[in-house]
Amino acid sequence: MRATGAAHKDFTIARIDDRLYGAFLEHLGRAIYSGIYEPDHPSADGNGMRGDVAQLVRDLNVPIVRYPGGNFVSAYNWEDGIGPRAERPTRLDLAWHTSDSNAVGVHEFADWCETVGTEMMLAINLGSRGLDEARQFVEYVNGPTGSYWGDLRAKHGRAAPFGVRHWCLGNEMDGPWQVGHKTADEYGRLASEVAKTLRAFDRSLELIVCGSSNADMKTYPEWERIVLDHTYESVDHISLHMYFANRENETALAAGAGEETLARNTANYLALNEKLDRYIATVQSTINYTKANKRSKHDVFISFDEWNVWYHSRQQDRAILDGNKGWPHAPRLLEDIYNFEDVLQVGCILNTFIRHADVVRIACIAQLVNVIAPIMTEPGGDAWRQTIYYPYYFASVFGRGTALQLQVNAPGYDSLHGDNVPYVDISAVHDAEGGTLTFFAVNRHATEKLDVKVALQGFEAGTVIDHRVMTHADLRATNTLGAQRNVTPRKGRGARVADGDLRVSMPPYSYQMIRVAV
Ligand code: AHR
Repeated sequence: MRATGAAHKDFTIARIDDRLYGAFLEHLGRAIYSGIYEPDHPSADGNGMRGDVAQLVRDLNVPIVRYPGGNFVSAYNWEDGIGPRAERPTRLDLAWHTSDSNAVGVHEFADWCETVGTEMMLAINLGSRGLDEARQFVEYVNGPTGSYWGDLRAKHGRAAPFGVRHWCLGNEMDGPWQVGHKTADEYGRLASEVAKTLRAFDRSLELIVCGSSNADMKTYPEWERIVLDHTYESVDHISLHMYFANRENETALAAGAGEETLARNTANYLALNEKLDRYIATVQSTINYTKANKRSKHDVFISFDEWNVWYHSRQQDRAILDGNKGWPHAPRLLEDIYNFEDVLQVGCILNTFIRHADVVRIACIAQLVNVIAPIMTEPGGDAWRQTIYYPYYFASVFGRGTALQLQVNAPGYDSLHGDNVPYVDISAVHDAEGGTLTFFAVNRHATEKLDVKVALQGFEAGTVIDHRVMTHADLRATNTLGAQRNVTPRKGRGARVADGDLRVSMPPYSYQMIRVAV
């Protein structure tokens, strides 16, 4: 099979916001406790934070991390996580049916963010709480000493304000599962008042209002229209979430389905970013509609602050989520073990965000450690990279610059999520300062290799300086504690620039990153 295309230096989409490669950490399962925080671990620092995990996060160059939830935040009292640890209360978490010691709170998390070189993005509880707690939380975190909340923060060891710029006004408030779930009008009114109040404190904050929890919600996309109607002038981003699942394969594998069925399911699974594409485009249209309707000069962008594959662990989590196991502290919850198929999926998702860099300014992989995460840990033991660590790593480290509008002609297939889905999913990023042009590409075909030729126009193209390939004979291959490097990238061979064209051959079911000096 062949695919041809062109990348022109001046056909740009937008400068990619570094925050596109953000992540998320929630007080959920072992994300915090025995994820980033494990005081008895041999690698723990003076604050009890695991050094091995911090290093894996540092390697990812994560620009921003959303915290502390998630569903958790909708019944969270931020005050429980400040002051002397010994005096902090253990609380029942109604979202995940667990208990939380509050050993980690905003101070510890801020210190960890400094250690790993990332920015903290905080979510406010607008489920069980409201305006006053939001105001007090922001004043505690960012207020000056000489005021009540600033002085309390100083008493707890931090005189200088944390200077947190990004604030999420609640989490998934459209979801009936959410503590304090609201209608679009109820939420829109509250979010608008909270935004006004936070702006009175500091005009420069970046405020993120809740959009839909997913594109299958009955209230989508009316939710966005109504919420934006209430809040348009006072917020900067609208938040979207989406989780990806090869649902058909869950049952097909258990039923011992044949290769043909499994391949069809994979084809549908790998076409899910068509749905993501429409979701982003629809919300972008809703933003534009609202802007025009209000005769506004203000811009609102999308914060895609929860995305990932999530389905491998759903069955095994039932007993805890149903409350049959009481209120365990930091149980193994949402611990998806990712496979090679998920590498291809994550590659396609990240390509979609790059192609929408004009409107998606923030995106957070959900989550970062242990809970539906690229990094796994064993208490007292190793930390390792899941399969999906790699496409996230390549995009975050090498996908900084300007997204290019690629023109690609490739054969395609019909799927549950869209017709004529091209077998090659590709994005390109031009880093003018660094003098590189980087392509991220996925071959979705089960059996055929794809010969790709991209004309490099407007560039003085040099040579291929880096080429990484991920393939595996088994789509369901995983990295585990006992086999941590089963699925890893290898150096690619054969990608070259000739006569102004990039030429690369992509094996069936493969992910590739190709970097060209320009
Ligand atoms: O990331 C796991 C959960 O998914 C989050 O708590 C919630 O916001 C979403 O439904």
